[in-house]
Amino acid sequence: MSESVKIVEVGPRDGLQNEKQNLTVAQRLAFIQDLVAAGLKYIEVGSCVSPKWLPQMAQSTDLFQLLPTDTDLHFSLLTPNLKGFEAAAAVNCPEVAVFTAASESFTRKNINCSIAESFEKFADVIQAAKMKNMRVRGYVSCMVDCPYAGAIAPEQVRDVAKRLYDMGCYEISLGETIGTATPDRVAKVWDCCLAELDAAVLAGHFHNTYGMAIANIYQSLQQGIRIFDASLAGLGGCPYAKGASGNVATEDVYYLLSQLGYETGIDVEHLMLASRNISQTLQRKSLSSYANAYWAQ
Ligand code: HMG
Ligand code: MG
Repeated sequence: MSESVKIVEVGPRDGLQNEKQNLTVAQRLAFIQDLVAAGLKYIEVGSCVSPKWLPQMAQSTDLFQLLPTDTDLHFSLLTPNLKGFEAAAAVNCPEVAVFTAASESFTRKNINCSIAESFEKFADVIQAAKMKNMRVRGYVSCMVDCPYAGAIAPEQVRDVAKRLYDMGCYEISLGETIGTATPDRVAKVWDCCLAELDAAVLAGHFHNTYGMAIANIYQSLQQGIRIFDASLAGLGGCPYAKGASGNVATEDVYYLLSQLGYETGIDVEHLMLASRNISQTLQRKSLSSYANAYWAQ
């Protein structure tokens, strides 16, 4: 049997948070239903953040309550603090994600606190999650470069990732937030982190600003990473990372992995329909090379 790779679909959160237009709850639900039909089982649904900061993510808990309840589906919400956590817990969301960075200046711009303060907030979230038997995923942004501070030392990424893991996050996703990294630099970060953390608890979250995301995923696979975040049609970007564009497209990750013989659980025809639907809803061309080639045939 072929080895499997876990894809965490972040389009409904990372993808839509960066769109100029705010989709309705019904449109967001249709997007997620399409993703489920395509075989995606791990989906970040939205964020419980201040709607003043990110109006695109407003009503994420309303959306959550409309989701299918099949037990093999894993839906999560992004929560920066206890207030966000409580909103997620109130709708019985089984998993939340906390997010900080390996860069002080990025953390300040993104969540308005220092890295140390973010750990304090997360300690409360993780403790509350444990009491409710909820899982917590951790994100570390700026795994290679920060839009404000420049190059980030791999040791700094390792230390933040290790701290989140030791605090109780079951999986740590390293964010290549601005998409400037090349595989040689990504390799150094994994080397450093893998000295302290098992590959099974590490995920790669690559943005594709400079077209390097698939190369970086290939590099990560060589080093044993088997969990990747991706966003349908290459939607996405962090509003607090100037110039950063979309996440790696789920369709392109599917193509790479299936050609390399990995199992992803994805049904390609439904994935293409999902891709076409969200591009039509947003009235823009998909950023996925694979999807564009597929529809051009
Ligand atoms: P703050 O202003 O420091 O918070 O923001 P505050 O505690 O002073 O509260 C200010 C107001 O926000 C108050 O309301 C709070 O009630 C409200 P007011 O009294 O003014 O009416 N508030 C909240 N409302 C709803 N939900 C909450 C919440 N918390 C406070 N959870 C805060 C701090 C974190 C809230 C703010 O900075 C924020 O919302 N930031 C948004 C961050 C964000 O979502 N960034 C994008 C996601 S991260 C990302 O994309 C990177 C990633 O993809 C990986 C990668 O690519 O690198 C994960
Ligand atoms: Mg991101």
